[in-house]
Amino acid sequence: MSSNPLTGAPNAVGVPRHVAIVMDGNGRWAKKRLLPRVAGHKQGVDALRRTVRACLERHVQVLTVFAFSSENWNRPPEEVSGLMDLLVLALSREVPKLDKSGVRLHFPGDSSGLSPRLLQGLRKAEQTTAHNDRMVLNVCFNYGGRWDIVNAAKQLLAQGRDITEAGLCQTTALAHVGDPDLLIRTGGEMRISNFLLWQCAYSELFFTPCLWPDFDAAELDRAFQDYAGRERRFGLTSEQVRPSSPVAAASGSHA
Ligand code: IPE
Ligand code: IPE
Ligand code: MG
Repeated sequence: MSSNPLTGAPNAVGVPRHVAIVMDGNGRWAKKRLLPRVAGHKQGVDALRRTVRACLERHVQVLTVFAFSSENWNRPPEEVSGLMDLLVLALSREVPKLDKSGVRLHFPGDSSGLSPRLLQGLRKAEQTTAHNDRMVLNVCFNYGGRWDIVNAAKQLLAQGRDITEAGLCQTTALAHVGDPDLLIRTGGEMRISNFLLWQCAYSELFFTPCLWPDFDAAELDRAFQDYAGRERRFGLTSEQVRPSSPVAAASGSHA
């Protein structure tokens, strides 16, 4: 059982402390119904609301979702502006509810390139929910894993610091929550698409064909069940990481 650095509360066995999700498949969901792509993104907001609730119920401590990538700017202009409008709308509708539920919001990503109005909304949502400690919700917006690493390296250089693993861990966009235990990707593609390149070095991966607007608590539980059966070795041998093994006890004493 691990404990929450934010609240000190214990985490249930088998439930990942930090879940990351590439919310993919909105466009295909809409296309199947002969709807415009943005209709799929709207349903995607509902799926995210359901998933936040399910994660709260399961005592997940950090949920990090990929909402808009550095590369998504290259989509048709009407889709990009539809996504921007949707974020503004979702902020005004969802932030008060998230605040009531004890969720602390962060929007990791490149703030340059976002409109001042949108940026103001994001910062306000972060401030409003800053006192919450039940769950952290990171909504990665205008985020790219390569941007994140380069940006962190630039910050270290600007501070006159060496570029080290520890320094990057303290400076990349999820430094406030640590690395994801489980990365879920919906929509059937088996790739990372420039999501958390640094932070997913040892995350367990779960790919599902389920399109994001169809994602629900049952699918989340399938991912958690799968995760619970994984052996996370972090480069060690199976014998070293098994809690009952005398080798694990011995190597644990050096940790
Ligand atoms: C993911 O769904 C949402 C964003 C990238 C903003 P997509 O829009 O990529 O859906 P598909 O992959 O085309 O079905
Ligand atoms: C990844 O999905 C980005 C988000 C979910 C926000 P994409 O649909 O952009 O990824 P690719 O193009 O299929 O790799
Ligand atoms: Mg996609």
